[in-house]
Amino acid sequence: MRQILGIRACLFDAYGTIFDFASAAARCPDIPEGQRSALTTLWRDKQLQYTWLRSLQGRYADFEQVTNDALDFALDSLGLASPERQARLMALYLSLSPFPEVPETLRALRQAGFTTAILSNGTPAMLDAAIRNAGLETLFDAVFSADAVQVFKTHPRVYEYSLEKLGLGAAQVSFQSSNAWDAYAASAFGMRVVWCNRYGQRRERLPGAPDHEVTSLAELPALLAPPG
Ligand code: LAC
Repeated sequence: MRQILGIRACLFDAYGTIFDFASAAARCPDIPEGQRSALTTLWRDKQLQYTWLRSLQGRYADFEQVTNDALDFALDSLGLASPERQARLMALYLSLSPFPEVPETLRALRQAGFTTAILSNGTPAMLDAAIRNAGLETLFDAVFSADAVQVFKTHPRVYEYSLEKLGLGAAQVSFQSSNAWDAYAASAFGMRVVWCNRYGQRRERLPGAPDHEVTSLAELPALLAPPG
């Protein structure tokens, strides 16, 4: 197997990669079971569209507002609108379940000598809560939020910001995302990329070429040559 050489830090996307965003609607018993997956999909799609549209318009609002606006739209579209339900789902977004392999993978990477960090659109408060509620607070060396640069991925400034904070070059960082668009953008930026294709997405017809495609983060440690 072809190992990636020269990596010092493993940088992870948060939502969909570390945290399962479907676990919010799944924990809402008052939403009919048949509508939970439609809600999750529409909420996520709209949330991402709003990040891209706001970045294009130069009208930044933080990820908490974008997430709440997207949820408002999705609940309304599906005939599920209710202020209490909306507040509950937003609260559940702060305690999303981590994917099962995450703690062990982070432990293995740290033991091998890699720095571990998150790079997410999430606000620092959202990310801190999610990390704490998932019991992952000792497993990340750093958490970087796009909020610091007031623009969302896939703006190159976001990826650049994480390198400045890490004090590393792009080729020394392995970026992991389940979002194809994010994986391709980080690759086009110059990072090494392991695309964790949990959702069976097709490859993007966009600049970039992930170095590896896996279906679980458990495969990651074997793909990276440990730092010397
Ligand atoms: C993030 C979302 C986009 O964590 O997955 O940045």
